[in-house]
Amino acid sequence: MRKPLIAGNWKLNMTIAQSLELVNTLKSQLSEINNVDIVVAPVFTSLNCVAEFLKGSNIAVSAQNCYPENKGAFTGEVSPDIIKDVGCRYSIVGHSERRQLFRESDIFINKKVRSLLAKELITILCVGETLAEREMNEMYNVIERQVTFGLHGVSPSDMRNVVVAYEPVWAIGTGKTASKKQAEEVHAFIRRTLTDKFNDEIANETRIIYGGSVKPDNIDELMDQPNIDGTLVGGASLNSADFCRIVNFQRI
Ligand code: 13P
Repeated sequence: MRKPLIAGNWKLNMTIAQSLELVNTLKSQLSEINNVDIVVAPVFTSLNCVAEFLKGSNIAVSAQNCYPENKGAFTGEVSPDIIKDVGCRYSIVGHSERRQLFRESDIFINKKVRSLLAKELITILCVGETLAEREMNEMYNVIERQVTFGLHGVSPSDMRNVVVAYEPVWAIGTGKTASKKQAEEVHAFIRRTLTDKFNDEIANETRIIYGGSVKPDNIDELMDQPNIDGTLVGGASLNSADFCRIVNFQRI
C-alpha cells in the first residue's frame, strides 16, 4: 500500500564530477526498478547537473535543506522556489545535523516544511532522539514534539507530500543501527502520533523511513518491519554497489 522509498543523503560529499559518476552508475544499475521510489540528495551545487542527468529516469533528486522564504535578503540561503527550479522534487528538512550543528528549532523547521509543501515539494521531515534523551526515557516525548511541531499547520491534503524519517542521533554515522525491534517500535509510535494529529487514513498512508547506519547487511531485516517504509541512507549511499543493494532489498 505504501510504496517503499530509498533516499541517499550525500551530506557534504562529492564534487560535480564525482556526483555525475555516481548517478551514471545508479541510473544504469537501477533502471529496472519500478516498485521503489529512489531519491538522491547531492550538495546544492550539484543539484542542477544531477537533476538534468536524471531527467526522465526513475531516480528523483532532493535538496538536503532549504530556507523558508522564497526570495529576499537572506545571504547564503536557498529557497523552495530555487530548489524546484533546478529540478528537485524533494527536500530533506530537520536533519539532526542541522538541529545540532546549526541550532535549528522545531519552529524554524516547521516554517521550512510549510514553505516546501506550498510549492508541492515532497518533504522528508527528520526526527530522532539523542542517546542521552533515550537513556533518560525522554525519547517518545522528543519524537512526539518533533513530529507535532514539525507538522503544525500542515493540512491533511498536504500530508500526501510528507515523509517522516526516523533517525536516532546515536545511530547516525556510528555504525550502530537501531535494532529492527527498536526502529519498529518508534515507527509504530510515529504512526500513532499521526493518527492522533490527523486520522487513521493519513497515518496509514504516510511513509515513515528509517535512517542511521543503514547498510547492505541490515537493510533486509529493517524493511521486513511492518511500519518501516524505506530508508534514508548516509555513508552507504556514496558507494554505488552498496546503494544499489539497499534499493534492491529483499523481502525476508
Ligand atoms: P549514516 O547512514 O551515515 O549513518 O547517515 C544517516 C543519515 O544521517 C542519513 O540522513
